[in-house]
Amino acid sequence: MLMANIFQAFLDWLNGVKPAVTDTEKIIASPDGTVKLKLILRQGHISYSVIKGEATIIRDSKLGMKIKGSPALSDHLSIVRSTEKSINETWETVWGEEHFITNAYNEAAFYMSETSNTKRLFTLRFRIFDDGVAFRYELPPQPAFSRVEIEDELTEFNIDLNANSWSIPAYQPDRYEYNYEKKPIYELEKSVHTPLTIILPSKYHLAIHEAALYNYGEMTLKLDEWKALKTDITPLSDGIKARVELPFNTPWRFVMIAGSPIGLTKNHMMLNLNDPPSEDFSWVKPIKFLGIWWAMYVGEWTWASGPRHGATTSHAIEYIDACRRLGMGGLLLEGWNGGWDGDWLLNGKTTDFIHPMPDCDLPGIAEYAHANGIELIGHHETVGFVDNYESQLEASYKYYSELGVHYIKPGYAGSMMSIQGKREFHHSQLGVEHYQKALELAAKYHICLDVHEPIKGTGIERTFPNLLTREGARGQEYEGGALSPSHACIIPFTRLLSGPMDYTPGIFDITNTTKRLASTLARQLAFFVTIPSGMQMAADRPRFYEQVNPGAYKFIHDVPVNWERSVPLMGAIGEYYVVAREERGSHNWFVGGVTNENAHRVRVTLDFLEEGSSYTAEIYRDSETAHYRDNPLDIRIETTNVTNKNFIDIWMAPGGGFAIALKKIAQDNDQFQQ
Ligand code: NOJ
Ligand code: CA
Repeated sequence: MLMANIFQAFLDWLNGVKPAVTDTEKIIASPDGTVKLKLILRQGHISYSVIKGEATIIRDSKLGMKIKGSPALSDHLSIVRSTEKSINETWETVWGEEHFITNAYNEAAFYMSETSNTKRLFTLRFRIFDDGVAFRYELPPQPAFSRVEIEDELTEFNIDLNANSWSIPAYQPDRYEYNYEKKPIYELEKSVHTPLTIILPSKYHLAIHEAALYNYGEMTLKLDEWKALKTDITPLSDGIKARVELPFNTPWRFVMIAGSPIGLTKNHMMLNLNDPPSEDFSWVKPIKFLGIWWAMYVGEWTWASGPRHGATTSHAIEYIDACRRLGMGGLLLEGWNGGWDGDWLLNGKTTDFIHPMPDCDLPGIAEYAHANGIELIGHHETVGFVDNYESQLEASYKYYSELGVHYIKPGYAGSMMSIQGKREFHHSQLGVEHYQKALELAAKYHICLDVHEPIKGTGIERTFPNLLTREGARGQEYEGGALSPSHACIIPFTRLLSGPMDYTPGIFDITNTTKRLASTLARQLAFFVTIPSGMQMAADRPRFYEQVNPGAYKFIHDVPVNWERSVPLMGAIGEYYVVAREERGSHNWFVGGVTNENAHRVRVTLDFLEEGSSYTAEIYRDSETAHYRDNPLDIRIETTNVTNKNFIDIWMAPGGGFAIALKKIAQDNDQFQQ
């Protein structure tokens, strides 16, 4: 920031300062008055609590920060002024689960100053929604310091210790790729990632998460010495949580509040807490694609060079032809560059992102793809060697862009990142800044990203819509033993609260002995609706779609990747989940449902369909004798006509699921005729 602007920002902060208040309580209510946050300033200490109706959601919880070389910024505090505002707006997304999102909250900002000698300043900004509360710390420019090293953030979320929670552990070698664990809060002695999903004894469901994570370590949570959940900001290798220049705003800390698990899936606070894009992103197009990929996982092909090398010119041409026949928009090409021979997890230090292997004529493949109207999805496996990647970052994006490649799947396998010559957590400030640098550079070259081993989602795809999806949880690559059927019934209420996921759905070769899936075939179709993603891979090899089960493939062909609206219908965490979504740009609806290892019967009431219209329902369901263990491929495909007065009863087999395409029967005055 320019000196003059810094000075102006400081004056703005001071504008209207009144005599300091050191003991007070302020209540901020949500627009409908049901959610209330109380800010308490007592003897110079600041804390907050939250209620919904009569129920306590968060008990008195501390706020503050510790800055290196000075006393904690949590004592001797006073409020020198405050402001309030109310927002009620509806905004349009570039792509996603909803075309339009309503953002309604009451905001209060408290301008705080120390009464002690240091006289440091900061602002606490709260936004209270009808379905949750959010706040952040803002450090304005100020005479005492311009650059700070944050040693700790003291934010607490003091939740009933007997509440239950669903989480994955933090600081682990496989990053976010763990099975979710159900634990009472009193057992959260080691840090867990957010979103942290919580079920209070009052039955209110919460998810604690953060929005707009930039230039700061990721927030993880663990119990502190007072037995309250406290932010444990991911440290850099020297122990500092973040080095920041003022003015600086922390990410938003927010708590979603719902009366049921399905209520959590309707919460849009995360996107609302992010800024709109500052440039035109209308060039971003969600896509469905095939990949030179699963053939490697089942051992048919290899990433490495040799007789079974996957990413060869002839395989790419074969798959591009398949994309065209199958109606897929793109092809992912993994293993096209050097670095995969030998132990590829160690080779990342020297991986080359610009020169293809001799049997992969990348320019020729790109030309063939474009002649056939197929996009290429390029691949960059960095293995977390960020220094090596950054030394080629711009050149490699430029190379792809000159080849007409508009999508890249970068990967960061490896237990730590190597950045600036040091070993850092992927979710440390330096990791966060690298992912951001790559995303902004990709935007410059009009490239969309599908980031594997990413930083967790905090809604920044609102500001940078070219971030079409990310992994950041166990996906189907963990099939073959490490995924239980319940996983897909947990993530809608946990991981997916943080945005789209590349789960790599659509594996039809379920009984493959190298990678046996814990899934029925109908469930593989359901994932295209239950796990939204701006880039959605049909992950199996084309012959399984064209020759083995073309009837089931029809659903993958028809299902869109961009939605007008989403209507979560029912679910219980770890047990089952059903959602309906309307395609953006048509009046067709798609429904997906999944269950855990137990069979589950549901009644899908079709009252979300348009009144007075008729639809053809194409139903893909488990047969009566299907079972993920010994009869996974048994699918029934039926067609019937329905209106919004009908319902469909569905039985999901153990480890099963279902998918329904509801296609509007065109009427003369329809806006979108098929
Ligand atoms: C892990 C990613 O999740 C997977 O999709 C990719 O194929 C491998 N790394 C190799 O890059
Ligand atoms: Ca992965």
